Amino acid sequence: MVDPFGRQVSYLRVSVTDRCDLRCVYCMAEDMSFLPKAEVLTLEELDRLCGAFIDLGVERIRLTGGEPLVRKNVISLFRSLGARIGDGGLRELTVTTNGTQLRRMADDLFAAGVRRINVSLDTLDPAAFAAVTRWGKLDQTLEGIFAARAAGLKVKINAVALKGVNEHQFDQMIRWCGENGFDLTLIETMPLGEISGDRTDQYLPLSEVRRDLRQRWTLDESAHRTGGPARYYTVRETGGRLGFITPLTHNFCEGCNRVRLTCTGTLYMCLGQDDAADLRKVLRDPAVDEAGLHAAIREAITRKPKGHDFVIDRRDARPALGRHMSVTGG
Ligand code: GTP
Ligand code: 5AD
Ligand code: SF4
Repeated sequence: MVDPFGRQVSYLRVSVTDRCDLRCVYCMAEDMSFLPKAEVLTLEELDRLCGAFIDLGVERIRLTGGEPLVRKNVISLFRSLGARIGDGGLRELTVTTNGTQLRRMADDLFAAGVRRINVSLDTLDPAAFAAVTRWGKLDQTLEGIFAARAAGLKVKINAVALKGVNEHQFDQMIRWCGENGFDLTLIETMPLGEISGDRTDQYLPLSEVRRDLRQRWTLDESAHRTGGPARYYTVRETGGRLGFITPLTHNFCEGCNRVRLTCTGTLYMCLGQDDAADLRKVLRDPAVDEAGLHAAIREAITRKPKGHDFVIDRRDARPALGRHMSVTGG
């Protein structure tokens, strides 16, 4: 599938639930209301939709949430998608998780065919961790991360850079990730969805962070590319990889390879735009066969926009989009 700007769409992010057991301050309001179950696709429906995308040329699938691993029996979806790795057309199946369920699920994920996972961890300080996640326990996430490593999974840590929260902790995280063999990616907070506070207070431009880190660490430009938004460096002192995701200070849309499916079967062509296609309607229409489903997906791809237009504007603290990050899972 190629979009109107000549970009090959080979990567699908699938949010399998909008629910989460944590409430990170940049992601959700404390009193979130979640979707009624009837609106959410069954795991079988999600599997069928993913299958259609694979048939159309998607090679990588990342399951996200909310928190994907809190969805009941989600491992069955990992297993059915994992069975398509190789000759089934899929090259890679990954997951982005907050880590709380990993102790219980890491072995099953590996057995299903997952080899790489991304875990959200903004700080190694227990009090700061509890403040960011509202009630998360750092130990639980750390146990999950080490269980994942023991299960054979390659771990990337995602840290959203937050002013006044973790801005002085990146040295510690770089060291810890280096020692433990984890990649680390720092992320600029993006203005999606109403949260309880004002995001402009939290926003920390990564161009400044990188300049500061360079005073103490040697960052060698790395050729590592995932087709994703991160720009990677190798930290010479630790040998570890450090990525920066900078939608606000440096937009990377020209190389975008991805679209996003929500747990209600809505396909968003861009994280930063509201245009979407209702694939649930197509999927549940008994008059539509597989060819019809393929046609609906192809039509949606023709609407993929050139890029997002996020700005964090100090004069206007409203989010750029009403939809929360947990709808599309980033
Ligand atoms: P890869 O699969 O290796 O590309 O991983 P990733 O780093 O893209 O995925 P992950 O789920 O860990 O997301 C990390 C951050 O990147 C999240 O904050 C996502 O919202 C953000 N992100 C992922 N894709 C895009 C994108 O296309 N545009 C923007 N602006 N942000 C993205
Ligand atoms: N801006 C940037 N990243 C976010 N995430 C959640 N909300 C936001 C936001 N507003 C991150 C999570 C997770 C990934 C999927 O997205 O920390 O690592
Ligand atoms: Fe949950 Fe992830 Fe959002 Fe935190 S960032 S509230 S862990 S979905």
